Amino acid sequence: MELKWGSVSLLSAKAYLIDPLKQEEQIKSIIQLAKEFEAFSGKKGEVCAIHDYSNKTTTLLAGIGDGGMTNSENVRRAVAKLIQLAESKKIKTLGIYLKGCPYEIVQVVAETVVMSSYRYIEYLSNPVESNLKSVLIESDPETEIAVLEGRIIGQAVCTARNLVNEPSNVQTPEKLADEVCKLGKECGFEVEVYGPKDIHSFGMAALEAVGKGSPNPPRLIVMRYKGDPELDSTVGLIGKGVTFDSGGLNLKSGQRFITMKHDMAGGGTVIGAMCAIARLKRRVNVTAIVAAVENLISGIAYKPGDIIGSMAGKTIQVNSTDAEGRLTLVDAITYAIQKEHVSSIVDIGTLTGAARKIMGEFGAPVLGNSEKVWKKLEIAAERAGELVFRIPLVEDARSKMKGDVSDLVNTSLAETGGMVTAALFMDEFIDGTPWMHIDAAGPLWLDKDMPYTPKGGSGWGVRTLINYASSMQ
Ligand code: BES
Ligand code: ZN
Ligand code: ZN
Repeated sequence: MELKWGSVSLLSAKAYLIDPLKQEEQIKSIIQLAKEFEAFSGKKGEVCAIHDYSNKTTTLLAGIGDGGMTNSENVRRAVAKLIQLAESKKIKTLGIYLKGCPYEIVQVVAETVVMSSYRYIEYLSNPVESNLKSVLIESDPETEIAVLEGRIIGQAVCTARNLVNEPSNVQTPEKLADEVCKLGKECGFEVEVYGPKDIHSFGMAALEAVGKGSPNPPRLIVMRYKGDPELDSTVGLIGKGVTFDSGGLNLKSGQRFITMKHDMAGGGTVIGAMCAIARLKRRVNVTAIVAAVENLISGIAYKPGDIIGSMAGKTIQVNSTDAEGRLTLVDAITYAIQKEHVSSIVDIGTLTGAARKIMGEFGAPVLGNSEKVWKKLEIAAERAGELVFRIPLVEDARSKMKGDVSDLVNTSLAETGGMVTAALFMDEFIDGTPWMHIDAAGPLWLDKDMPYTPKGGSGWGVRTLINYASSMQ
């Protein structure tokens, strides 16, 4: 689907977002008509299509409810419904009329058009073709750029979704790294990929241990974007990149097993965010890291009870081979601090089932040591319509992660508080760097469709991280 800015006056299918309290002059008569059939009053969630058979035109209306253009989430949902309606009415080209709308709303509409049109059809031999081929947005000339920016952001979300939906038999750590190299060239950021020998020479024994059971060795993917070389600070982003999590010898079972290709979704989020940050040419320096690795079983896989090292030099007893994400992340964190000299870190990943249980797919808990980073993240997420909430790093739980015969253990044997202990384990490697950790095991993968996100990889967090990095300029 193609999205452009321009005049919609000659198009036969046009859509309008309707605020029930402020019905636009030029389509008053259409709304009146819609009302007469009791089909439409502009309430949130309402849509209707009116055909004018004599002029061969179709007008689509979507209600955004009270609060109108100030509620961007209502706008997103209305746009998603418009796209669905246009598709079902077999409209090929749709014009969306947004004259008089503020910049941010025009951007949100553009983003949502792209996000709502996403389908994952890569492996279908005969995919059903979508009807809607192009969307034109007409807005005030000073908001033309909002359409271009919104398109870039929507495409970045779709890039993340594609990476997550790609099956792990195809997307090994090596393939993921190759894909990031391509994206770096297309979008304008530098990519450096370190293979197993480099990983060994960095002393990343924790990452190495996780990858030992797989014939597909790990890759450390480093993405660098320098939007302001004068600035001496660098925003650090780290995404969990487990391309498949079998649980290792603590083997998983049941339905969840099938979806474990998505255990690299945090990595997908930071990769998607980097694409947009670079294409939007934000005046900020960002270094993003994904330690891509497969957690499998084999005769040489790491085992429960093993004591392994780490790049920071701390020893770790593996209490569960299924608590692998934190092992990969702590080496990525040490690398980010020691070799890339990042000023702050936000990491994101599918870390614990515990985080999923709290809020399901609706939001993600955030834990960490920095009030400043948290505030920026909270604002960034609010603007993106993505829900984050802070959970304290409970000091009293820290002792659970200390070992008897090793410095640390990778999981507490207690069954409760799993999300907090995972974050406390990571905090042992953070060395005072301002840091927040997003445990997004809930929203990064959807079992059913959401308003502007089809089931599967959601691309959740991409827009939050774009906003977050942009707020550092
Ligand atoms: N990748 C999983 C977490 C997960 C579970 C993500 C369900 C998405 C859906 C992670 O590596 C894991 O297995 N975590 C364990 C940790 C436990 C062994 C301490 C968990 O949460 O059960
Ligand atoms: Zn696991
Ligand atoms: Zn995992």
